[in-house]
Amino acid sequence: MTEAAPTKKKHHCTCHSGDASPMHPRPFKVVKIWKELSDTFSMSLVPEDGQPIVFAPGQFNMLYVFGVGEVPISVSGDPTDLSTLVHTTRAVGNVSRALDALKEGMSVGVRGPFGTVWPLDIAEGKDLVFVAGGIGLAPLRPVIYQAMAYRHKYRNLAILYGARTPEDILFDKELLRWKARFDIDVQVTVDRSTGDWAGRVGLVTKLVECGGFDPANTVAYTCGPEVMMLHVVDSLHKRGVPHDRIYLSMERNMKCGVGFCGHCQWGTSFVCRDGPVFRFDTIADDLKVREL
Ligand SMILES: Cc1cc2nc3c(=O)[nH]c(=O)nc-3n(C[C@H](O)[C@H](O)[C@H](O)COP(=O)(O)OP(=O)(O)OC[C@H]3O[C@@H](n4cnc5c(N)ncnc54)[C@H](O)[C@@H]3O)c2cc1C
Ligand code: FES
Repeated sequence: MTEAAPTKKKHHCTCHSGDASPMHPRPFKVVKIWKELSDTFSMSLVPEDGQPIVFAPGQFNMLYVFGVGEVPISVSGDPTDLSTLVHTTRAVGNVSRALDALKEGMSVGVRGPFGTVWPLDIAEGKDLVFVAGGIGLAPLRPVIYQAMAYRHKYRNLAILYGARTPEDILFDKELLRWKARFDIDVQVTVDRSTGDWAGRVGLVTKLVECGGFDPANTVAYTCGPEVMMLHVVDSLHKRGVPHDRIYLSMERNMKCGVGFCGHCQWGTSFVCRDGPVFRFDTIADDLKVREL
């Protein structure tokens, strides 16, 4: 049976209050900003108007550094926390570096949340597999929190994570905490070992090949570099997970974030509006035509 594709949300932003325009950033205050990795940081934001924040796992916000510009960043925090918004960002260019340079107490503009969500309702009674590469663990973390909060609804739960080196493992302490729960299979691998790393070395697809889940009864969620996700889909499919039970989150350059400008057009989809979370079989043809 074919599973439901991610819900196409209406182009409104549920975290806006007062001003209903999705193009108008809402001011948030940086309450905490901390380093995760040498080039990656997280920050927690609270709305200056004090209104609650509602987002669903998989959604992203447009973060605006006043006078610099705006970038799409997925929410990486807990969806049950209605008071604080957490994002985890790799500083790669103009705006992400300007975000990194913000100090506690400073303001940032937020538009959103936008986009489709990781669907969990379709996975009840099934095994869940989360496969992440590098910073791809950040957009998956909210759905992992959600799955853990309702752990009894699912059978096996596996988190398979790959990083370049041990120093690049995101949320390392949290991964250890999850592993210590014993009701979750957490496997971590690195492309290249350094220092006293005694864990696995190899691609994350190796973890998929031997992961403890029942392929015929599994829903899989993957996020990371596009080429990694394609290999992950291939490995999952070879194990027997059908394409209509694999979800992935895509990235394209964005401007409006709400389906107006066409900047993120990809094949017949707008990634901001129809994604970023897509069911694999619905985009398989577009993915074959690289850089469409
Ligand atoms: C829906 C969505 C969700 C996203 N979620 C996150 C997130 O949770 N965390 C996060 O860190 N990023 C996320 N991104 C990517 C993020 O939006 C970009 O990294 C950001 O727009 C870069 O803007 P910039 O102005 O800092 O860099 P630019 O000045 O635009 O780019 C500088 C250089 O960095 C390169 N570059 C741009 N993006 C990346 C990248 N992702 N990786 C490596 N090199 C890059 C460019 O090719 C360019 O050479 C997401 C993107 C989308 C579309
Ligand atoms: S960013 Fe404008 S249509 Fe998607």
